[in-house]
Amino acid sequence: MYPLRRNRRLRTNPAIRHLVRETLLTPSDFLVPLFVVEGKSTKEEIPSMPDYYRLSLDYLEKEVKELWELGLRAVLLFVKVSDDLKDNKGSEAVNDKGLMQLAIKTVKNACPQMLVMTDVALDPYSSFGHDGIVEDGRILNDESSEILAEMSLSHANAGADFVAPSDMMDGRIRTIREALEDEGLTDTGIMAYSAKYASAFYGPFRDALDSAPVDQKDVPENKNTYQMDPANRMEALKETRMDVEEGADIVMIKPGLCYLDIVREIRDAVEVPVAVYQVSGEYAMLKAASEKGWLDHDAVMMEQLTAIKRAGANFIASYFAKDAVRLM
Ligand code: PBG
Repeated sequence: MYPLRRNRRLRTNPAIRHLVRETLLTPSDFLVPLFVVEGKSTKEEIPSMPDYYRLSLDYLEKEVKELWELGLRAVLLFVKVSDDLKDNKGSEAVNDKGLMQLAIKTVKNACPQMLVMTDVALDPYSSFGHDGIVEDGRILNDESSEILAEMSLSHANAGADFVAPSDMMDGRIRTIREALEDEGLTDTGIMAYSAKYASAFYGPFRDALDSAPVDQKDVPENKNTYQMDPANRMEALKETRMDVEEGADIVMIKPGLCYLDIVREIRDAVEVPVAVYQVSGEYAMLKAASEKGWLDHDAVMMEQLTAIKRAGANFIASYFAKDAVRLM
């Protein structure tokens, strides 16, 4: 008796494996998250994210030029502002001369063709470390959305190509879209963090921006009343469909690796590009294991990124973007 089919024939050598490979990573698969910090000539390594840095504007300029040389064409900006600029309403977020607004201009000056996306949520600016306004132990929804819309206008006016609301307030995509249209900012796109889970994988990111919810009376200790329960699947579809209806150009799922079932399902359910955020905790896990010599950094990195794309991601926001592109 012979095997009915010999599938191994297609795995015989690198040439045939390459020929039949279904998923290929390219530099255009990546969106590069960048952390911007106040000051000059500052490049601070983030303790829980080895080899990843907070950059002052002069270093940001250098970094984006390097990314461009590597073939990377899109960045996602985050800022870390000092505590004295934080308040409950995130007032600094709408300062047209604020750090984010300057960062957008810095990138556009250094690399006019680089696509600039900006994170829109109050947490880096909030004295309580929440994505919206805190009142009596709750996060206000509609009032927060209004500020997020103002923030989006400010980013768009500074030159952002896409705003990326990561806050999970209900109805904010519509509020933001209407505000942009009212101002004639019709070319500014929205990438919605649509299925954003209340994940424990964001820890290193909150270290990077010093943006964790503060431990204080009447301040919720976590983000569970707005970010989604990791146990839920249908809810991700509902959130994503609603964001598309409200005007999202691109939807995003976050985190990555633990949520690839959701990625596949959403990819099959909506007709807009689907982005996946491989988050800080996913980055930290691999860095830690490879520092110990327990995992092969490059091999595991490429396997994870390939799996995210195979699941249906049109592109990936990843702290590994530079490392991955260098291996291509
Ligand atoms: C802010 C925001 C977070 C991340 C992206 N935007 C943190 C959070 O919601 O607490 C996490 C990204 C990462 O962990 O890499 N709303």
